[in-house]
Amino acid sequence: MQRILTIIGARPQFIKASVVSRAIQAAEGIEEVMLHTGQHFDANMSDIFFNQLGIPRPDIKLDIHGGNHGEMTGRMLNEIEHALLEHKPDRVLVYGDTNSTLAGALAAAKLHIPVAHVEAGLRSFNMQMPEEINRILTDQVSDLLFCPTTTAVKNLENEGFARKPVKVMQVGDVMQDAALLFAKKAVPPAGGELPDRFILATLHRAENTDSPERLASIVKALNQIHREQAPVVLPLHPRTRKLIAEQGLEINVHLIDPVGYFEMVWLLNHAQLVITDSGGVQKEAFFFGKACVTLRDQTEWVELIEAGANELVGADYDRIVDSARQHFGRTVKDTEKLYGGGEASLEIVQVLET
Ligand code: UD1
Ligand code: UDP
Repeated sequence: MQRILTIIGARPQFIKASVVSRAIQAAEGIEEVMLHTGQHFDANMSDIFFNQLGIPRPDIKLDIHGGNHGEMTGRMLNEIEHALLEHKPDRVLVYGDTNSTLAGALAAAKLHIPVAHVEAGLRSFNMQMPEEINRILTDQVSDLLFCPTTTAVKNLENEGFARKPVKVMQVGDVMQDAALLFAKKAVPPAGGELPDRFILATLHRAENTDSPERLASIVKALNQIHREQAPVVLPLHPRTRKLIAEQGLEINVHLIDPVGYFEMVWLLNHAQLVITDSGGVQKEAFFFGKACVTLRDQTEWVELIEAGANELVGADYDRIVDSARQHFGRTVKDTEKLYGGGEASLEIVQVLET
């Protein structure tokens, strides 16, 4: 029996791990030990996903959140190392590009425990983003690199991975597996009527929320779109809620608390347009056939731009407002199966089993 220790901690990782964990449970010969770092901790940022998506309860729950990046990552590194020494896994499995990802990968590599990275090879080429640092370093210490896209594989080739004794595999995107699996569970968010026709927005990335100018410009644009074009429904990330309050900004859109995945799928299904700076939500817009206006200067999901499904507008007020006007109500189609078509978790587990 092979023992895999999975490290998760932030919202998108719960969604990604849910489908891979299912496939692990269906496979024989793998025992999964689940470690939750505690990076996300509110009920609607963490517990709700375990309840809805049937993710195994964490065997190890750390309570590490907040603080500067070094502090958070360092505390995780220390405590994850203890957990690895105690549980002695054959392999560690990490997802994405958060501080939990890097701490998990580094703790394992230092103990010579092999690391599998789901969502390997993604690059924005913007080293100002904490995620870019996390993903580059995580890839460097991984020996199984599960890439979601052709571009991700090429990025690793360009960084010399073909010459390293590691396996780089294009398996597709586990988020598409999740979207397909849970689409039928869609439920409207509780707590008040939503408008019939609306735009779904999300906003939380550090490069937007930590910059007073960018945050003010985006909030102003969302207010304008809400007033002139169509109601904007915004499930507000706790980081953004804090920073909007700190900056004294006035936000006049339809705010709701962060929602579970079943509610999110419902919102994606019913929205006329998606406006976001999230990595995951850009793709989900596409999976649900909606155009996406992306509040970033680069994206790791370049194939969406090439397919004309997604437009990058940064934090520029005029570009956001114009793009929302242009793409409102447009539908897009996944004709080329850019993200693998929903079999990524099965492929990953087949490799893990061997
Ligand atoms: C983190 C990831 C980011 C990912 C995002 C997904 C890093 C560096 N960033 O960003 O890549 O896109 O998760 O959502 O790992 N907070 C709460 N309650 C919670 C969670 C967070 O109040 O349940 C607060 C924290 O206390 C903190 C702020 O939100 O003040 C930011 O949380 P943090 O985990 O540091 O970063 P995210 O912005 O969530
Ligand atoms: N999500 C959710 N509820 C919300 C907002 C987002 O379930 O209120 C889901 C979303 O559908 C996607 C994931 O969380 O699957 C994306 O996470 P987030 O935007 O926090 O992080 P990123 O993908 O940018 O790292």
